[in-house]
Amino acid sequence: MYDFKPGPEASPKERYDELCQAVEALTADEPDGVANMANTASLLWEFLPDLIWAGFYRVSSTKDGSGDELVLGPFVGRPACIRIPFGQGVCGSAAQQAKVHLVADVHAFPGHIACDAASRSELGVPVLRDEVVIAVIDLDSPTASRFDEADAKGIEALARILAERI
Ligand code: SME
Repeated sequence: MYDFKPGPEASPKERYDELCQAVEALTADEPDGVANMANTASLLWEFLPDLIWAGFYRVSSTKDGSGDELVLGPFVGRPACIRIPFGQGVCGSAAQQAKVHLVADVHAFPGHIACDAASRSELGVPVLRDEVVIAVIDLDSPTASRFDEADAKGIEALARILAERI
């Protein structure tokens, strides 16, 4: 049994330090990327308060094989959109621009893809391997302005750990 859980009094920095240590420990010896994404989604859910969705979109082939797009990966939360073209929504924009997207109000984000009507704010962080985007880590919250720079930095650190492990 794995028992990773932050104390209720943990500061945001402590929370992300502990989250990264837990992900590091659980993925270090495991070459299977799906297993590593699944455990990371679970840890995101365990460590971070006020989420309704936490998980991965992976860069993968379109159904007709004509190119690449984002395809749903392991997550915790309600069923979500399966395929997202580059440039569409928060995740597709984060993937296309290789840039963190911190969205305080998803209703104000042009082209936001509403997988869950309860989502109010969102953080999309690209995972880069050799400077190429291979996935996006996506967090959704029912609270507006839930995410800040500390969250962005914390998830970027997580993305660096996972770059060779998913
Ligand atoms: N809202 C996202 C789609 C993914 S779901 O939130 C899980 C977007 O605009 O990319």
